[in-house]
Amino acid sequence: MRLNQNTMLLGKKVVLVPYTSEHVPRYHEWMKSEELQRLTASEPLTLEQEYAMQRSWREDADKCTFIVLDAEKWQAQPGATEESCMVGDVNLFLTDLEDPTLGEIEVMIAEPSCRGKGLGTEAVLAMLSYGMTTLGLTKFEAKIGQENEPSIRMFQKLHFEQVAASSVFQEVTLRLTVSESEHQWLLEQTSHLEHGWEWRDLSPWRPEVLPWLGVKLQAWPAFLVFPFSLYQELPGGPASVSTQGQLGPLVLQKQAAVTLGA
Ligand SMILES: CC(C)(COP(=O)(O)OP(=O)(O)OC[C@H]1O[C@@H](n2cnc3c(N)ncnc32)[C@H](O)[C@@H]1OP(=O)(O)O)[C@@H](O)C(=O)NCCC(=O)NCCS
Repeated sequence: MRLNQNTMLLGKKVVLVPYTSEHVPRYHEWMKSEELQRLTASEPLTLEQEYAMQRSWREDADKCTFIVLDAEKWQAQPGATEESCMVGDVNLFLTDLEDPTLGEIEVMIAEPSCRGKGLGTEAVLAMLSYGMTTLGLTKFEAKIGQENEPSIRMFQKLHFEQVAASSVFQEVTLRLTVSESEHQWLLEQTSHLEHGWEWRDLSPWRPEVLPWLGVKLQAWPAFLVFPFSLYQELPGGPASVSTQGQLGPLVLQKQAAVTLGA
């Protein structure tokens, strides 16, 4: 869906960012793993199909997805690409046409070295909170392979309860109904989360400012040129100011185009 396309959720262990084409190559690499295909009940896709899937996650109103970044890595290295900090994804499907308050949740911490450290838990909590407060969801379901004990346990710790088991699909369905007390509990569990818009408004590192900073840094030749043009205009300075005087803005424009187009 387009609703979260500019949203960033900043937690202690994870940062959730919208799924963009920048993330597709690494995501595609992950999904070549047969273990991940089995655990997430996914079919292998070609790279082209993965790009099409990313576009459908962006466009389709019944799907909401975030890429999960390792917050520690992401914050420790200003300027690090999101791709280099990716550890997994978390998704919501609004599957039930008759019940728009029900969302099916999925999570994957694809990087094995990042599992068992609380990242999956925080990613799910952040998504539950987003689903509850922004999408108006009051019921969440997770369909999990019956042998996927880590996932079953994690969702149980997050107050999900088993409501069905399918021997055909060899999966169990766990459900969380957001009662008043669960609502309160979820708000408490996620009170540290910073929402993207506020975070973007406050931080000098916010993505839409980075191109501007890039312009400032890369445009240094313009600042060297500009004082010279001022000098030319001083009484007694060289008479011909036009060439140098125009160079500054031209350099700025060029650098801006390069930076913003990157
Ligand atoms: C399942 C998964 C999302 C859990 O994320 P995670 O970051 O590794 O889990 P957390 O560190 O947040 O652990 C939360 C709880 O899950 C349970 N858990 C996690 N790993 C476990 C393991 N290897 N064995 C048993 N329980 C485990 C524990 O109850 C744990 O709580 P505790 O640390 O207090 O004991 C992650 O392992 C994963 O993505 N695996 C591969 C893909 C997958 O199975 N996705 C789910 C599809 S439904």
